Amino acid sequence: MQTPFLPHMLESIEKVEANRAARLESEPRRLDANEKRDLLEEFHPDYGDKGFAEIRIGANSGEKAPKELAALLHSKSKLSGVNLNLENVEYDVDVLIIGGGGAGAAAAIEAQGAGANVLIVTKLRMGDSNSMMAEGGIQAADKDTDSPMQHYLDSMGGGHYKNKPELLRRLVMEGPGALKWLNELGVMFDKHEDGTMMTFPGGGLSRKRLHACADYTGAEITRVLRDEVHGRRIQIVEYTAALELLLDENGQAAGAVLMNMLTGEYSVARAKTVIMATGGSGRMHYHGFPTTNHYGATADGIVMAYRAGCNLLYQDTIQYHPSGAAFPAQLFGALVTEKVRSLGAQLLNVEAHAFVHPLETRDVAASAIIRECRQVGKGIEIPGGASGVWLDTPLIDIIHGEGKIASALPGMLRMFLNYQIDLRKMPILVYPTFHYQNGGIEIENEGNTKKIENLFVAGEAAGGIHGRNRLLGNSMLDIIVFGRLAGQNAAKMAKNVNLGNASLKHVHDYEQEIAQAGLETGATSPILLPNYIRDVNATKICGGEL
Ligand code: FUM
Repeated sequence: MQTPFLPHMLESIEKVEANRAARLESEPRRLDANEKRDLLEEFHPDYGDKGFAEIRIGANSGEKAPKELAALLHSKSKLSGVNLNLENVEYDVDVLIIGGGGAGAAAAIEAQGAGANVLIVTKLRMGDSNSMMAEGGIQAADKDTDSPMQHYLDSMGGGHYKNKPELLRRLVMEGPGALKWLNELGVMFDKHEDGTMMTFPGGGLSRKRLHACADYTGAEITRVLRDEVHGRRIQIVEYTAALELLLDENGQAAGAVLMNMLTGEYSVARAKTVIMATGGSGRMHYHGFPTTNHYGATADGIVMAYRAGCNLLYQDTIQYHPSGAAFPAQLFGALVTEKVRSLGAQLLNVEAHAFVHPLETRDVAASAIIRECRQVGKGIEIPGGASGVWLDTPLIDIIHGEGKIASALPGMLRMFLNYQIDLRKMPILVYPTFHYQNGGIEIENEGNTKKIENLFVAGEAAGGIHGRNRLLGNSMLDIIVFGRLAGQNAAKMAKNVNLGNASLKHVHDYEQEIAQAGLETGATSPILLPNYIRDVNATKICGGEL
């Protein structure tokens, strides 16, 4: 197999191989709180001003947001100037779920189970989502050696103590039950021979708490949820995007205006309750970073809910996963699961120095990598002007025995073998990649929004659970806990809702605010899909701009 590594990379790999045995004996120390703070302040994009803009209208006016998000919030509606008959209702349901990922599916299962008439609309196919692409696992404190309290403390520390306490409490307390639910639905978790769950360590975790399905946990969980939705014959309308929420004259959510992605035709869905499960925003490439996210992650839910009057929480904090693939170019930004580090792979600079503990929380580990590459000049150069650091993957088979990589990380192995890189034998190059929006539409303890009656949010579109930095495996848990909760509560609420006339008045009012603030640019949002031909050139997404 011919190696794709360039001569200067091979020279550095020789150093990696030369000190591997010595590194096995001494892992890098953990940073103390002051060191972490200094590192974050200097190198994490969240902590600077560059790449941010002030939100000028709406509930979060005066706060900062990534400039691409601010531009979406300052844009007109795609329905601006469109003449629609809102009385021409195509779908009339109890619960409308916008988004077909893990949170939407979990919500649909529960809402239908509670007797509601449910409709899922999704702009791509059912299951196309960040849930599907999750690799490493799902956290839940289900072992005697662990407890929800311990899970709470770890997650609160990881979130810089900004998590909404009641939301985090619900997440950790309901973790074991969520895991049981998935297991009984048929998710094939990694188990010991006696049938008990295997658990793995992770960044910021004080206990082994990560439950996995090899390195395709999200695909397995989403497969099972999607099958369940299909099996229950829940109505799904694919390739159909929501463009705006509808509100009635009392300000209650009353449905949404939809658009067929293939024909451009509009339709109206009237609903007694709405669940926003639209996912994240990685395809907006904030701060110029590449992304692990699926193609439809364009902040749609945030835009629609904000126009309707909801407030956002922590919209300025983004998770850069420390190990995005940095080489070869075809994989740039793709997720290299944290499980690789949790199994013992170390992060090394060009001199084969282990410059940071591999299981620091993601924001800290990502900042340390950025420092090595940008300030210290100890990154490994990659064609095109970016650089990365080594993730010393062969350590995994040395630590756990030959065959561990093949059994625990089959997806990773295959992904790199496609490009003639055998990660059992050679380290791989990584650099931080936009993985998750830590914040989103603020939710309350019942999964509801404070501002809009009958509107619930679940999954990555929601803000507050994870504070300013999510720990690994907590998003797969939150889509289940808060997806199910939103489904149950929306179904319950739908029984007592009396809707008035649905309207888009809030959209027109918002557009007046845009005009009054002098923000009109002609741009419209949500954008629904990234426009790479228009927006992106090779230098813009080149490992982030600081
Ligand atoms: O590294 C990972 O596999 C990602 C997990 C997560 O974001 O929870």
